[in-house]
Amino acid sequence: MSTNLSEVALQELHLFALELALTGGHFVRDERPKKVCVAQTKATELDVVTIMDTQCEALLRSMISERRPDDAILGEEGESVPGTSGLTWVIDPIDGTVNYLYNIPAYAVSVGVVVGDPTVAGDWTAVAGAVYNPLVDEVYHAHQGGGARLSRPAVQDIEAGIELKVQEPDALAKALVGTGFSYDIEDRRRQATIASEVLANVRDLRRIGAASLDLCAVAAGRLDAYYERGLHPWDAVAGCVIVAEAGGIVSGLQGPVSRKMTLAAAPRVHAEMHRLLVQLSR
Ligand code: IPD
Repeated sequence: MSTNLSEVALQELHLFALELALTGGHFVRDERPKKVCVAQTKATELDVVTIMDTQCEALLRSMISERRPDDAILGEEGESVPGTSGLTWVIDPIDGTVNYLYNIPAYAVSVGVVVGDPTVAGDWTAVAGAVYNPLVDEVYHAHQGGGARLSRPAVQDIEAGIELKVQEPDALAKALVGTGFSYDIEDRRRQATIASEVLANVRDLRRIGAASLDLCAVAAGRLDAYYERGLHPWDAVAGCVIVAEAGGIVSGLQGPVSRKMTLAAAPRVHAEMHRLLVQLSR
């Protein structure tokens, strides 16, 4: 999909995505109560929301509405806000909420911006994004055509970060692969069956617990591939532009990324993983 945004406009979106991710990250890290409580559950009892998810999302929504009132907003924890500019901010205030609950240092604030409708598979293009893990002070960020970087904002200028490049292992058998599991038990049973077959064909499997960080790990060469069924746009949008700008491919099984499948990897291993997942999904 052509996006027709100038480099200046893309840089502006990139910087704002960074500001949002860093602000949200500092908020959820610094204001984290000693004992994090589950405020509510969503589709299943295991799909939890903490008070910090809702407060962080409210903070990010207010910043977007104030600075870019014409843009739409799609967030994990609230109603969609329509816009007129053709751009939608897609936010996950805490990706890896279960890690946050247990204080495992693998959660992130994920902020992406798309042209098109992020709720319709194939109808959107991610143009800028930032994913910030505040506990390890790592922010992954990119805009379309500008490359992807990993920076440590507490200790260096954002521009001083390292340029990201996906890794291409010699063969699928040597690939370290990430995945994730649904909050729905029946979905999990099917995912576990597929995961056990994947495990037999690759170096090893990782389940980090935050899809945005999994996608960024592919961009950074910390994983060779990542796949998951059931992701929502807020889990994936920012990571998609970061992987693409690091030279990777992100797709679904039949065409674009959809709730049915998100598969990210360098081109050759992507093709091999795709073949394997198609075979296992029959
Ligand atoms: C979840 C995480 C997890 C993935 C789930 C997501 P949340 O997001 O990204 O790694 O396996 O599919 O829903 O609920 O922590 O924002």
